[in-house]
Amino acid sequence: MSDQEGTIPQQDGLEADYVAALSRPSVVQAYAGWEELSAAERFCFERFLRPEFSVLDLGCGAGRFLAATGSNWRAYVGIDNSEAMTGAARARFPNADFRQGDMFRLEVTRHSYDAVLMLRNVIDMLHPLERRSAALSLAREALSERGILVCSSHLARRGQPAGYVQEDYHGAIVSTYRSAISEWCAELERAGFDVVMVLRDVRETGDADWAYAVAQPNVV
Ligand SMILES: C[S@@+](CC[C@H](N)C(=O)[O-])C[C@H]1O[C@@H](n2cnc3c(N)ncnc32)[C@H](O)[C@@H]1O
Repeated sequence: MSDQEGTIPQQDGLEADYVAALSRPSVVQAYAGWEELSAAERFCFERFLRPEFSVLDLGCGAGRFLAATGSNWRAYVGIDNSEAMTGAARARFPNADFRQGDMFRLEVTRHSYDAVLMLRNVIDMLHPLERRSAALSLAREALSERGILVCSSHLARRGQPAGYVQEDYHGAIVSTYRSAISEWCAELERAGFDVVMVLRDVRETGDADWAYAVAQPNVV
């Protein structure tokens, strides 16, 4: 499964700028040193993931998920658009399956993963907006019937409309999508998921909280 017909828009300049900002050596180095989970992530993983799962980590960065949880998953595939990030991930875990490229252009086997992850707001850096819903569709297609999606998104400040907001990201200005928890849940439902749980990840730094959602493909 990949966007062979070219129906999903290519990334625009804002997404390319974001990936470039992330790919700077100082940022990659920081990511390569991170192995902590937030309390929200830990709860999601302990409650919903099992070692016998096959895991697809979309926007895997420098391999934080494996660093934090160990490599004992039945199967693991990490995909990331940044060559620098996948390079750092491979250096950390030489035996793991990391693939570099746009998640929509790489081949992903349909209905074969027990868990799909988009951790730390991967989805919020996709531009244009259509790529956001396409990412949720991709996750749904990749998941087995009772598979689990764990995905976070930035929360808008109370009363602020959903949309892209400019923010400082390790010294670069990037454009990040934010919405209310209710809108995040509605978005997941529109993409064909039942929302199982949502946790507010209260951030001590930065100007927005995040919401971690656990969701399953709805079975009609
Ligand atoms: C904020 S980082 C999070 C990294 C990792 N998930 C973690 O929790 O540490 C977002 C990652 O998504 C990747 N990314 C952005 N757009 C992507 C795309 N279209 N396809 C694959 N990866 C993408 C970026 O290169 C970056 O490494």
